Amino acid sequence: MTRRFAVRSFGCQMNVYDSERMAEALLDDGHIAADEGEADIIVLNTCHIRGKAAEKLYSEVGRIVARADRAGQPRPTIAVTGCVAQAEGAEVMRRAPAVDLVVGPQAYHRLPELLRRQAGGERGLVDLDMPAVSKFERLPARTVQRVSAFLTVQEGCDKFCAFCVVPYTRGAEVSRPLGAILDEARALVDGGAREITLLGQNVNAWRHGRADFGDLLAAVAAVPGILRLRYTTSHPRDVTETMIRAHAEIPQLMPYLHLPVQSGSDRILEAMNRRHTVHDYLELVERFRASRPDLAITSDFIVGFPGETDADFEATLELVQQVGYAQAYSFKYSPRLGTPAADRDGQLTEGVKTERLARLQALLAAQALAFNKSHVGRVCEGLIERRGRHAGQWIAKSPWLQSVVVSGDRLAPGDLVSLRLVSAGPNSLEGQVLSRNLPASW
Ligand code: SAH
Ligand code: SF4
Ligand code: F3S
Repeated sequence: MTRRFAVRSFGCQMNVYDSERMAEALLDDGHIAADEGEADIIVLNTCHIRGKAAEKLYSEVGRIVARADRAGQPRPTIAVTGCVAQAEGAEVMRRAPAVDLVVGPQAYHRLPELLRRQAGGERGLVDLDMPAVSKFERLPARTVQRVSAFLTVQEGCDKFCAFCVVPYTRGAEVSRPLGAILDEARALVDGGAREITLLGQNVNAWRHGRADFGDLLAAVAAVPGILRLRYTTSHPRDVTETMIRAHAEIPQLMPYLHLPVQSGSDRILEAMNRRHTVHDYLELVERFRASRPDLAITSDFIVGFPGETDADFEATLELVQQVGYAQAYSFKYSPRLGTPAADRDGQLTEGVKTERLARLQALLAAQALAFNKSHVGRVCEGLIERRGRHAGQWIAKSPWLQSVVVSGDRLAPGDLVSLRLVSAGPNSLEGQVLSRNLPASW
C-alpha cells in the first residue's frame, strides 16, 4: 500500500543523514514524500543529547495529534526513530500513546517492513536491535540529490565521556568499509553532489586495515567530480599525522576543522573522561595550523559540568582566547540519566550555568565576527548552494564554511564561482561574483 510520508530531523548531522536514508528507503518501498500536514506516516528522528532535545519529541507528537483532530482527519502513523527511541524504547509509547513505532538508529533499514506490519494490524512495534550486519548493507543506493551531501563513514562511540549518551544510543565504534564509502560517494556525485561531508560521531576514528582517516580523505578526494571535501566531528584523541598532512596535500579538502574541546580546565577534562589535556589540544591546533595556516577552527563547549569552579570556567575563556575560533557551539551541562556525571556531587545551579554560558557565547560571537571581518577583501572560491532571500540572490559557501550572499542572474546551485568578499556580519558575508570557473572535470 502506497502511503505519503514525511521525515523530520531533530538531531546532529548524522541524524539528518539517517533521515535522508530513511526517506530513500520509503521511496524505494513505493511510498511518496509529502508535506507533514498531508502525510499518512510521520517519522520523527529524535535526538537525546540534552534534556531539551529529548523533550521536543513529546511536544511534537502532541502537536501532530491536535492538528489531525482539529482538521477532523485520521491521525497519521507516527514512527519515532533516532536516539530517544534507542534510549527510551517502549517507554516512548507509554508516554505518548499516539506513537505507533519505535525504531533505533541501527535498525531503521527495517522501517519499510515495520510499517507494513503496522498497516497489517500489529501494535506496539519496537525495534532497537543493533544487528551484526550493518544497516548500510541493507539500505537502497543513494538517490537524494544535493550540491552538498553528507556521507556517514563511521558510527558509534567507545569514548564514554562522563556527560554523554551517544555511546549508549549509537553503540560501539564501527567503520564502514572503504569500498562501500567510495561507491556511495560516486552515487552522490552522479546525483549532482559537488561537495561531500564525511560524517561520524568520531569521524577520524575511521580505520580500515592499515588505512586511517587521512588515507580515507585522500581516497574520497580522488573520486572524479568531488570538488570539495569536509568532515565532522573529529576527536582530539583520534587525530593522526596523515590526517593533519591531508590539509596541506589534498586540494579538495576545505580549510575547516571542527575539533571539540568541551572545557579549558585540565581538572574538568579529566572529570569528563576526555582523556587529553589542554596542552595536548593546543599542540594539535598548532600542528593543524602549521599544515594549513588559514584553517578555520571550531569547537563545542559545555559550561557548568559538575564541580566546575569559577577558575575552571575562566580557564575555558582563556583557552578560547588562545585558539581564536571561527565558530563554536556551547551548551549548558544537561544531566542525562544513566551517564556517570548525572549523579555526581557538585551539580551547579541553572543561574550559574546561564551566566557562564552568556559570557562564553559573547566571547565566541566576538571571535566569529572578527574571523569573518578578517576575510573582507579576500578573493576565494564559493560553491553556490541555494537561492537567497531576495530575487537574484544566492547563498554560496566559502572554503571556511561561511555563508556568502551574492547576486547574479546566470548562477545555479552547484556552480563554483570566484568571489570577492566585500563585507561581513557575525553569521554571513556579502560577496561579488568575479567569474564562474567551471572545473575541467565537468
Ligand atoms: N563526538 C563529539 C560530540 C558529539 S555530541 C565529540 O566528542 O566532540 C555534540 C556536543 O553536544 C558535544 O560536543 C557536547 O558539547 C554536547 N553535549 C553532549 N552531551 C551533553 C550534555 N549532557 N550536556 C550538554 N552538552 C552536551
Ligand atoms: Fe559523546 Fe564523548 Fe563519544 Fe563525543 S567522544 S560522542 S562527547 S562520548
Ligand atoms: Fe543527538 Fe543522537 Fe546525534 S543523541 S546529537 S541525534 S547521535
